[in-house]
Amino acid sequence: MNNEIERLEKAIQSFSIETPEQAEEFRLTFLSRKGEIPALFEEFKKLPSEDKRTFGKPVNALKQLAEKTYKAGLEDAASSKSESVDYTRAVNDLPIGSRHPLSIIRDEITDIFARIGFDVSYGPEIEDDWHNFSALNFPEEHPARDMQDTFFVQKDPDFALRTHTSSVQVRVMENEQPPIRTISPGRVYRNEAISARSHCFFHQIEGLYIDKGVSFADLKQTILYFAEQFFGKSKIRMRPSYFPFTEPSAEVDVYWGLNNEVDYRLTKGTGWLEIMGCGMVDPAVLQASNIDPEVYSGFAFGMGVERIALNRYQIPDIRMLSENDMRFLKQF
Ligand code: DAH
Repeated sequence: MNNEIERLEKAIQSFSIETPEQAEEFRLTFLSRKGEIPALFEEFKKLPSEDKRTFGKPVNALKQLAEKTYKAGLEDAASSKSESVDYTRAVNDLPIGSRHPLSIIRDEITDIFARIGFDVSYGPEIEDDWHNFSALNFPEEHPARDMQDTFFVQKDPDFALRTHTSSVQVRVMENEQPPIRTISPGRVYRNEAISARSHCFFHQIEGLYIDKGVSFADLKQTILYFAEQFFGKSKIRMRPSYFPFTEPSAEVDVYWGLNNEVDYRLTKGTGWLEIMGCGMVDPAVLQASNIDPEVYSGFAFGMGVERIALNRYQIPDIRMLSENDMRFLKQF
């Protein structure tokens, strides 16, 4: 018995535990059910009582030594593992993202309008016929609906991917009382062939202002303010146009200038760049949203974000804006 105790004591003391694997090996060798310490206890049980008195203490001490050694070894193994990490080693740079050009432009535009009291509103991209067309004065079965090639939802043609953010105008007017001043940015969809200049989805920013006594002069001044703030240009012109939801309607051009070759190309040699459609909200549209056209009037405008991005950053192909190619995106 004495020899056995001595042998085990030496074995425990000389066992080196530096890794979690070695700690486990120690446990299996000495402490597990089939290990050396339980085996020694089995032998101890068989001893006559006077021997039990002699060996009780050293056997228990040995068990405690094994347990202490195991516990300390586990801790050492864990801490030596973390010490093996070299915190001073250089790491590869983590790539830092950048804003998408469309987000940059959207935020700049909403900020410019926020400064004159416009809030921001959103609507769904899958829109019903009422909000996308009917409430905006597109007559049923009228070719005006073909102005905007529509993706209809196959199972229910009453729903479509919205063709413009003008649908948000209707939702805002249905839910709020004038004065209303709101900007609605968002994605829109049209069944159009994809090319360098057109895509089947793109982004628009809609504006709406409804109050008592809003006039065309307010519209013109608001757009002039926007052109100055956003483009840094102080000359605009309005050309008569047609939209079912505004009367009168206009297209707005900003005077871009003809200072260099790029200006000539952008403006096709005219110096003028088309930036948006706009007009006075048609009384029928106010009526459809339960706003009394005898009391209130207002204006609306809508612009395409991609077109602005292509011009501002001289991007040659609209598809680059939705391909998510990092080599392109990291330039902004
Ligand atoms: N919804 C029109 C389009 O997609 C743009 C537009 C024109 C919006 C005139 C307006 C507006 O609010 O008054 O082409």
